[in-house]
Amino acid sequence: MNRGENGEAVLPGDIARRVIDPHAYAQWDGLLDTFDAIRAETPVVKVQPDTPGLFDPFWLVTRYDDVMRISKDNATFLNNPRPVVFSFNQAIEFSRAATGSNMLVDSLVVFDAPIHPKYRKLTQEWFMPRNLAQLEGELRALAARTVDNMIAAGPEVDFVKLVSGPYPLRVVMQILGVPPEDEFRMQMLTQQLFGGQDKDLSGSGMENMTPEQVVQIVAGAVKTFEDYFAQIAEDRRRNPTNDVASVIANALVDGKPLPPRDMAGYYIIVATAGHDTTSASTAGAMQALARDPEQFARVRTDRSLLPGIVEEAIRWTSPVQHFMRTAAEDVEIGGQQVRKGDWLMINYVAANHDPAQFPDPRSFDAARSPNRHLAFGAGAHQCLGLHLARLEMRILFEALLDRVAAVEPAGSASRASSTFVGGLKTLPLRITPA
Ligand code: HEM
Repeated sequence: MNRGENGEAVLPGDIARRVIDPHAYAQWDGLLDTFDAIRAETPVVKVQPDTPGLFDPFWLVTRYDDVMRISKDNATFLNNPRPVVFSFNQAIEFSRAATGSNMLVDSLVVFDAPIHPKYRKLTQEWFMPRNLAQLEGELRALAARTVDNMIAAGPEVDFVKLVSGPYPLRVVMQILGVPPEDEFRMQMLTQQLFGGQDKDLSGSGMENMTPEQVVQIVAGAVKTFEDYFAQIAEDRRRNPTNDVASVIANALVDGKPLPPRDMAGYYIIVATAGHDTTSASTAGAMQALARDPEQFARVRTDRSLLPGIVEEAIRWTSPVQHFMRTAAEDVEIGGQQVRKGDWLMINYVAANHDPAQFPDPRSFDAARSPNRHLAFGAGAHQCLGLHLARLEMRILFEALLDRVAAVEPAGSASRASSTFVGGLKTLPLRITPA
């Protein structure tokens, strides 16, 4: 560990690079080793670029207790005005040039009080278990179709491609009123929107473009999203249904409907927050079951084990790997003096593998109790869709356990290279139908 100008703990350059390098996140065990070493020596530590201007320095927070404290203290640790996801300065400049904002879309995650609670309240009830119960029938039908497709493609399948990718995507699209025929277009637009920011997103075709071209494409994608969702909102105002799209379309804040940009932001945050995250945890649960045939056999006959498996998969995978906060005032945390305006990374992967909170944190223990993980965050911004994520996963695995007698790995799985939302990219399995 090094010391900075004011005596603060600073991460040595080679380790700092791993914290901000998307490729380091593709090597899970290596990543956990890195966070274990950092947490043991300096649980709160400054990360700064070795090339000045590449990114703004920030405090990395790795201990469970510290991440919990920051998450719950929304007055001291703000989601605005600095970006709420780690970004290189060039990406932040793209975003500002294209949209006038640090983040490409303004939404719940970038609002603080007093705006945040007003926007959050609009859909909070819709996402509660009592209301979600009405989705169960549709989810069961979708889960059954998805698993049947996988079995038809078997016995060797890529679980990510056939199940854990498409199923959560269809769920969020459905609740947002996007028909199946527009799903691909929405995926492409999302890639255009975030492809300029995520250096690692291959296939976006943006690697070879000038900054001006990227800004143009991103601004175009935002506009297309706005127009698309404005149409859905128009329809839901005339013909409201019981979906979340109708709630957003008819919502009033301070007596007025949401402006088009905020409405699009709301739809986009639900679409993006609800997809890759649930996919990653679903794939992780399946990977754990495939590696442990006895556990698979047990849960087939005793479905009461399923909620424990789902919860542990969410901790074990921690798909949202971090969020950023900005200090609203000087504050001490983990023995370090954080100054007003400083940027902090609350790292959920590190917190959810903190041995002080989770004994033997790398093992998948479906009976872990308590399992008060931070994969959904905590405090005012705690995941809005957490009940939906759990419900989706439980229903999918019920359908799967009804139809699959046994499952085993059929090759090595691979992880995405991303510092923000991460998880398995491929999961080859051999399936034995029931
Ligand atoms: C926020 C994780 C699924 C919608 C968050 C946050 C995390 C998270 C860590 C930030 C919490 C904080 O700042 O304290 C996850 C994980 C999921 C998942 C791990 C799946 C396993 C979903 C689903 C939806 C959703 C299915 C909706 C369909 C949201 C929204 C926010 C959010 C709208 C912003 C809330 C706010 O800022 O007030 N999620 N999420 N998430 N999530 Fe999820």
